[in-house]
Amino acid sequence: MKIIKLDAIDSTNTYLRQLTSTELLEDFTIVTAALQTAGKGQMGTQWSSAKGQNLTFSVFKKISCLNTHEGFYISMATSLAIYNALSYFQIPKLAIKWPNDILSESQKICGILIENVIQNSKMTAAIIGIGLNVNQTVFQKDLNASSLKKNTGIHFDLDEVLSQLIIQLKKYSELITDRQFDTLKIHYESLLFRKDKPSTFKRLNGDLFMGFIQGVSEDGKLNVLLEDEVVEAFDLKEIKLMY
Ligand code: BTN
Repeated sequence: MKIIKLDAIDSTNTYLRQLTSTELLEDFTIVTAALQTAGKGQMGTQWSSAKGQNLTFSVFKKISCLNTHEGFYISMATSLAIYNALSYFQIPKLAIKWPNDILSESQKICGILIENVIQNSKMTAAIIGIGLNVNQTVFQKDLNASSLKKNTGIHFDLDEVLSQLIIQLKKYSELITDRQFDTLKIHYESLLFRKDKPSTFKRLNGDLFMGFIQGVSEDGKLNVLLEDEVVEAFDLKEIKLMY
């Protein structure tokens, strides 16, 4: 396994994607950066992280066994791997907020951005970008973000946390290779934030509604039980969970 440690880069995901077009990468090639100058978040957002205090890294994972509609299993496996690694460090009250934010005490401590590498209309690999707040203790108020240090009072060794994350990512990626999709889905759904609890959601047009998270569909949509026993499947762009 190759780890490329960079001091500063625009985005580790972008860097790794560029590498895929010039080099034949080994499975599990990892790029870490102490600082990202243009870190990318989900849905075109920015990911900001204080220099040298957190983990911002991307993993190149070869994927040859998934059909394009099965891509969400990579999200499930990644979320579960991070959840397990953080449980090892006894981070309190962990949960997975759909689709793949990791929360501790209802605050976001980790974000995941997965970009598929498609060749001849087939998925050949995934670039799994992970931003984990480790030792940063000051965050913009409106982000509802936190870190391992903020929620435990412990200063963590970044390399030690990274090693544990890699161990778990390898373990969970084997479940994908073995096509253990039911195991992944059952485990992922059992850890979903606010599952089976009355929750408020906001639609794109601003309307609020109440529903109960039931689980996810194979393509990663969120199944929400609404009034009159109707279950609707929502895309990430369509709703926001208010919490
Ligand atoms: C999110 O919006 O929650 C996803 C954040 C993903 C951030 C990570 S940091 C490492 C990798 N490189 C990026 O530019 N983004 C991801």
